[in-house]
Amino acid sequence: MSAIAPFTPRILLVTGKGGVGRSTTAAALGHAFASAGEAVLLLEIGGVGDDASALARAFGRVRLPTKPERIDTVTRPERGAIFGALLLANTGHERFLRRVLPGGPLVAAALRNDALQRLLNAAPSFQEMGIFYHLLTILRETENQRFRWDRVIIDMPATGHTLALTELPAQLLRLLPNGFIGEELRAGRTLLEDRTQTGAVVVTLPERLPITESRELAQGLAKSGVGLCAYVVNKMPATDFSKEERDVLDTWLAHSPPLFGRGDYLRSADAKGLARELDGDGAPLVLLPELALSGPALPPALIPYLTKGPS
Ligand SMILES: Nc1ncnc2c1ncn2[C@@H]1O[C@H](COP(=O)(O)OP(=O)(O)OP(=O)(O)O)[C@@H](O)[C@H]1O
Ligand SMILES: [Mg+2]
Repeated sequence: MSAIAPFTPRILLVTGKGGVGRSTTAAALGHAFASAGEAVLLLEIGGVGDDASALARAFGRVRLPTKPERIDTVTRPERGAIFGALLLANTGHERFLRRVLPGGPLVAAALRNDALQRLLNAAPSFQEMGIFYHLLTILRETENQRFRWDRVIIDMPATGHTLALTELPAQLLRLLPNGFIGEELRAGRTLLEDRTQTGAVVVTLPERLPITESRELAQGLAKSGVGLCAYVVNKMPATDFSKEERDVLDTWLAHSPPLFGRGDYLRSADAKGLARELDGDGAPLVLLPELALSGPALPPALIPYLTKGPS
């Protein structure tokens, strides 16, 4: 199976603070792996009453389907295709009950039970547990004796919710160490903590606050045992100047009156410096340019920057 360095784990958790480009990066990774011949599943956490999703929009849809469905329209090599689906707490609860309760009628009755539904939806972490279990069952799906999905890319919710999900198995294991629940939690935790299986992709922008927050997020992920496979610094301003040209321009600008374009020039110089601050944090840096594209055209245009490896 091909791997696009540094995005080598089978499960990629794309995370970062709001609006930095998580969905765009997840979609771009999906295109990159599908172009390399892989069966890719793009997931997003769904819930009741969700509005339009940027991930779905990147494939010309309003929402992702509740069950895996092909969402790209390109002819690809080998198994290459992008499927999309929502991760749903209810689906996870249902699959869980089917595993622990004998027989269908009992499950159906349990799922129709209002009190149980209220408990499942209101108890803290039950939502996360459902989502987590749904994910676990998807990761295990096989077809013709191989995993159904070569690559599973999850457009994670913004920072806080991501940590709630990644910390969940370890936290719940302390409460429920035994029996079937304990076994499943341990299986989930092993998967999350195995660096060859799971990697976080922290997306950020070349700006002061996002850079600082992305380092904090990486620390939080490390604490929950999840490995960081790359920082993606998105929307890097285009720059066409060499080091020598920059030295000349810097000297000149230091003594010149205010000029149009000075702000853009300084912003692009700052961007590189800010991105470099993440260097040495133990994860490769991947820089994505800000492109004058939007909608379904944007993610595939970013493939070359993902596949050329860390900068
Ligand atoms: N490299 C890029 N070049 C140009 N536009 C971009 C780039 N990356 C993202 N955008 C645009 O920035 C906006 C935010 O991107 P996106 O929806 O991927 O972010 P997000 O982190 O998923 O946001 P949210 O927190 O709302 O889920 C979108 O309009 C997207 O088209
Ligand atoms: Mg998004």
